[in-house]
Amino acid sequence: MSEHDTSRRNFLALSAAVPAFMTMAGAAGAQTQTEAQETLLMPGVGKVAIVTGSSRGIGAATARRLAGLGYAVSINYLTNAALADQVAREIEAAGGRAISRQGDVAEPDAIKALFDANEAAFGGVDVVVNNAGIMNVGPFSQMSDEAFGRMIATNLTGSFNVLREAARRVRDGGRIISLSSSIIRQTPAMTGAYSATKAAQEIFSTALAKELAGRNISVNAVSPGAVDTQLLRQHGEAALRGIPEATPLRRLGQPEDIAHVIALLCSPEGAWINGQNVFANGGIV
Ligand SMILES: NC(=O)c1ccc[n+]([C@@H]2O[C@H](COP(=O)([O-])OP(=O)(O)OC[C@H]3O[C@@H](n4cnc5c(N)ncnc54)[C@H](OP(=O)(O)O)[C@@H]3O)[C@@H](O)[C@H]2O)c1
Repeated sequence: MSEHDTSRRNFLALSAAVPAFMTMAGAAGAQTQTEAQETLLMPGVGKVAIVTGSSRGIGAATARRLAGLGYAVSINYLTNAALADQVAREIEAAGGRAISRQGDVAEPDAIKALFDANEAAFGGVDVVVNNAGIMNVGPFSQMSDEAFGRMIATNLTGSFNVLREAARRVRDGGRIISLSSSIIRQTPAMTGAYSATKAAQEIFSTALAKELAGRNISVNAVSPGAVDTQLLRQHGEAALRGIPEATPLRRLGQPEDIAHVIALLCSPEGAWINGQNVFANGGIV
């Protein structure tokens, strides 16, 4: 059963149990009991999310999770059109709404086009998950200009492009979330350049949260520990070795672990978290 089906099933099962005092009909006079229950359990209904880099990994899990909460979702990718379409089709098959759109975050015009396509499809945006990223590692002495430059273009310039567009277009009451990394507290050898681009996400988020003051928009970073995705697996099994043993919760992170944290930040219950970097790593840092 998909996450969306599960959310719907939970919603229906819990509907009968939500006490009448939780309905807003008496207080606000506008919401019916059913609407109030749906707001409680499906906070994304009527809202729209853009998730960059959501053809796979953490981005795909986040897109599925937000769709399960009722958000219409714009999927974005660089090269994997088939995977991105598959994520969008799964969301639609579960009763949700999704589009997928190619766009290199490093290109400002591509990001404007992504937001334009989202607006044409869904009318606006409430949540932006600034997730697309790459990890090139190696000693300073051996990292090529190309590997360093591509990482700066994607993780730093790309993130700036996405946040700039988000700052211009996210509707009042929205959420902006960037993927940093727990690695910024560990900074192992070989990861200096990557860690620097991820540390920037914390700075971007703290500053943007203050810039958007007064619009009820929260801006945060999320810092996963090691998560089992292509980003790590491309470096071979050695990149994963020893991580479960070194983690107090004794396992590797899964993309869904991070999607749940992002969903919390998007939820009404997460509204007071603003300008923070939320570390989610099973206790390894
Ligand atoms: N995995 C971890 O252990 C971990 C830990 C901490 C933080 N993070 C951060 O979490 C984020 C997601 O990581 P992940 O592990 O899910 O990575 P992943 O599995 O490698 O997926 C990366 C996603 O980003 C997309 N992408 C890459 N370059 C892009 C570009 N220039 N423009 C648009 N999309 C682009 C990819 O699209 P294509 O499929 O088309 O290539 C893919 O959808 C990254 O920012 C990463 O730094 C990951």
